[in-house]
Amino acid sequence: MTTDLSLVLMPQTPADQAAIDKLDERTFGPGRFARSAYRLREGREPDFTLSFVARVGTLLVGANRMTRIACGPIEALLLGPLTVEPAFRSGGIGEALVLKSLEAAKEAGHELVLLVGDEPYYTRMGFRKVPMGHLTFIGPVDPDRLLYCELREGALERARGRVGRL
Ligand SMILES: CC(C)(COP(=O)(O)OP(=O)(O)OC[C@H]1O[C@@H](n2cnc3c(N)ncnc32)[C@H](O)[C@@H]1OP(=O)(O)O)[C@@H](O)C(=O)NCCC(=O)NCCS
Repeated sequence: MTTDLSLVLMPQTPADQAAIDKLDERTFGPGRFARSAYRLREGREPDFTLSFVARVGTLLVGANRMTRIACGPIEALLLGPLTVEPAFRSGGIGEALVLKSLEAAKEAGHELVLLVGDEPYYTRMGFRKVPMGHLTFIGPVDPDRLLYCELREGALERARGRVGRL
């Protein structure tokens, strides 16, 4: 018998949510509910066409969510949480999930993606710090961790203002 254990990325479905929640719980703990980014996503389904899971065989080893948000006068996407199962880290799965979501978002005509995370990790995927004062987030957020990636030139300039729920 042969077993194919290569990595595959596939769009998320509602059936994946329980496994993703468990992975997030193990990674971020109960403190995740108090985060400002969580408040933006609270009660909202991710955009399943832009959110992906990574699987090795049938095992879910990573996931990334994209949620539609309002960003000043335009619609944008909030990326995250991005989580990879500890035993599978440092193999490029995190980067592959982010790039897959960005590619799908661009293809679907979206122009701007925001996230709250570590700039040293996300720089190589095209994210930069939002200039101080350019956007007002829904709750407290470390300005050094509020990052953006333009899928269309000039999108950040058009997005000036308040970040909130759609
Ligand atoms: C961050 C995370 C998703 C990266 O997944 P991954 O599959 O290991 O990512 P990649 O393989 O694409 O990149 C790994 C590299 O990024 C580096 N890296 C990971 N997290 C980093 C961070 N916060 N800041 C800077 N570099 C980081 C790793 O050290 C690794 O470097 P190496 O290749 O020299 O070992 C994973 O470590 C994780 O789930 N962490 C806990 C949850 C989290 O912090 N999520 C991001 C915030 S939403």
